[in-house]
Amino acid sequence: MGKTIAITGKGGSGKTTLSALITQILADNGRQKVLAIDADSAVNLPYALGLEPKQTVAEIRRQLIEDPKARAKTDDKPMNKVMAEALETGDGFQLLVMGRPEGPGCFCAINNLLKYGIDTLSQQFDITIIDCEAGPEQVNRRVVDKVDVLIIVTDTSIRGSRVAGTIMDVINRDGDIRPGRTGLVINRFQGEESLIMENAQKWGLEIVGRIPDDNNITEYDAAGRPLIDLPNSSPAVKAVTKITEIVVK
Ligand SMILES: Nc1ncnc2c1ncn2[C@@H]1O[C@H](COP(=O)(O)OP(=O)(O)OP(=O)(O)O)[C@@H](O)[C@H]1O
Ligand SMILES: [Mg+2]
Repeated sequence: MGKTIAITGKGGSGKTTLSALITQILADNGRQKVLAIDADSAVNLPYALGLEPKQTVAEIRRQLIEDPKARAKTDDKPMNKVMAEALETGDGFQLLVMGRPEGPGCFCAINNLLKYGIDTLSQQFDITIIDCEAGPEQVNRRVVDKVDVLIIVTDTSIRGSRVAGTIMDVINRDGDIRPGRTGLVINRFQGEESLIMENAQKWGLEIVGRIPDDNNITEYDAAGRPLIDLPNSSPAVKAVTKITEIVVK
């Protein structure tokens, strides 16, 4: 059974950046079969990984509901096979993209399908990295309830800290949500962390790493370059290499 790592936290805290860099570092060392899952309906992880999103879980679902031909084709196939066909191949990793349902409506069905995808596909990989939606919802809806490692990303702001606190509250209140390990990553770290340290202690949350503000990330972002092309000497890549060693061991 492979190891699953879910990355959650406040909007804009650096979840996708961290997910992409962990994926790249694991893909580079080539020792494990790596699956990256973009569980955020905003769909950003493929671009950070240098890929264009192709088939998404949301599209598969729509086709199965709306297109009798597509349904007939998949009728005799187990659902995990259908999911596996949605995988995209990157350089040393595979990618599954959730996407978003068309039109208004609830995310329950899509989250259920995503959870199914996570549970079944992760068994075929050594490591699965899940880039979650911002905020506590996917933890609350138990999409990532039994992951081996739940990483909460925060910046040093009070808002980042509050969202981290809400996620911890959700975990502590619901006995069915039991990540093997929960850790905090402080992103865009600039030296001052007394607020977040105080809270981390209160929640009993281990700090698994600090990622500095990295100008290379800003430049790559502005130029639309994938983060996986960042040089190994980049400060954020160095920091995430350490984090990866801690959470993967
Ligand atoms: N360590 C860093 N140094 C410099 N810029 C960073 C760093 N981490 C993240 N950023 C920038 O901050 C922005 C938000 O990062 P990212 O997209 O990874 O956050 P997110 O948590 O996935 O956001 P969302 O909630 O929208 O999915 C991006 O423009 C990213 O390039
Ligand atoms: Mg993101």
